[in-house]
Amino acid sequence: MMWDLLAKLAWHLPAEAAHRIAVAALHYNLGPRPAQCQSEADLTVKLAGLEFANPLGLAAGFDKNATCFNGAMGLGFAHVEVGTITPKPQPGNPKPRVFRLPEENAVINRYGFNSHGMDAVAKNLYATASKRAGILGVNVGANKTSSDPIDDYRQAVAMLAPYADYITLNISSPNTPGLRNLQTKRHLADLLMAGFAGCREAGYEPASGSVELRKKPIFLKIAPDLQHGDLATIVDSCIEAGVSGIIATNTTIDRPSGLNGVHAGEAGGLSGEPLFAASTGILAKVASLSQNRLGLIGVGGVSTGWQAYAKILVGADMLQLYTGLALEGPGLPNRILHELSHMLDADGVTRLDQIKGQIVDSAAAIKHALGLYEGLSK
Ligand SMILES: Cc1cc2nc3c(=O)[nH]c(=O)nc-3n(C[C@H](O)[C@H](O)[C@H](O)COP(=O)(O)O)c2cc1C
Repeated sequence: MMWDLLAKLAWHLPAEAAHRIAVAALHYNLGPRPAQCQSEADLTVKLAGLEFANPLGLAAGFDKNATCFNGAMGLGFAHVEVGTITPKPQPGNPKPRVFRLPEENAVINRYGFNSHGMDAVAKNLYATASKRAGILGVNVGANKTSSDPIDDYRQAVAMLAPYADYITLNISSPNTPGLRNLQTKRHLADLLMAGFAGCREAGYEPASGSVELRKKPIFLKIAPDLQHGDLATIVDSCIEAGVSGIIATNTTIDRPSGLNGVHAGEAGGLSGEPLFAASTGILAKVASLSQNRLGLIGVGGVSTGWQAYAKILVGADMLQLYTGLALEGPGLPNRILHELSHMLDADGVTRLDQIKGQIVDSAAAIKHALGLYEGLSK
């Protein structure tokens, strides 16, 4: 309660200042501790050779420089994806660059990969390597002024892979000019090759490789603003290259009709509730195209157990969130995990893999999850 109240008070601060304070608080491990849940449900997930205590992770962009991921894990997240980290330090776009849309439970940001750079982040990761409380993903990207953006991915992976449980290649931020072109067929194979080359430079095999030891899973994070043909190309390229999974999705450049509020017209990527249905639709398409040949992490607009449940129903192995935490405060991960457990009980199952991919149509999955949830709250 106290933490939720503090989160509400933080709304009186500009969004970026509130974010800085939250990162500092988690750096010092401040925050509510998850309470025990009275449920038989088993929330553990095995993906890409890694074992996650539960399916919920903190999405990239919150802990950009790997300074507070242990504190975030203390809130209940079984994994945290730090970054996006660029090879060289860069300041990002001019402020203000992040805006709350309270009426829509949404945020628009155009941070533009503000990053301390891979050397500084490697130092942070080295210093905390022995006291990890969960699985750590490292999300990398290209510098804005890079002359060879694809090589930036190789460099960042080569430097940071030794500290990561998995690597994410982020080619879906709308705030770095040209970045999302890397999702096209012309560039994707080179991009994935660069990621794997970086991995090998650091002495690791991709997780799908034949060498059993020293494997490092690589994930690809995609945008929600892709057509079916683009998605099919991406899925095929990922399977061919040996990518372990797809993270769907990043923020959207789309502006759904009816978006209100003073900041609705700001440029940047929209996240939170208005992204939920679209990102779940993309996730469902990726699930049907990949037919269990790729791991899937569903991201976009999750702030309740039923939204998490719907993403698993269409095929997600795991989930991530960012905006929900920023708007609702640090009690959110624990609430979602409780709700998920109780929804599994209500659906008559005990494990997440029993519901994964059971409803391929995203609208039907959302309806089922919401109905189950409403039944529980009666
Ligand atoms: C303020 C902000 C900054 C973000 N920065 C990054 C980033 O650096 N790298 C990245 O891959 N995604 C970034 N994201 C996208 C999130 O990781 C996530 O994919 C997206 O916000 C959808 O999830 P949500 O609706 O739960 O926030 C950012 C999102 C927000 C709101």
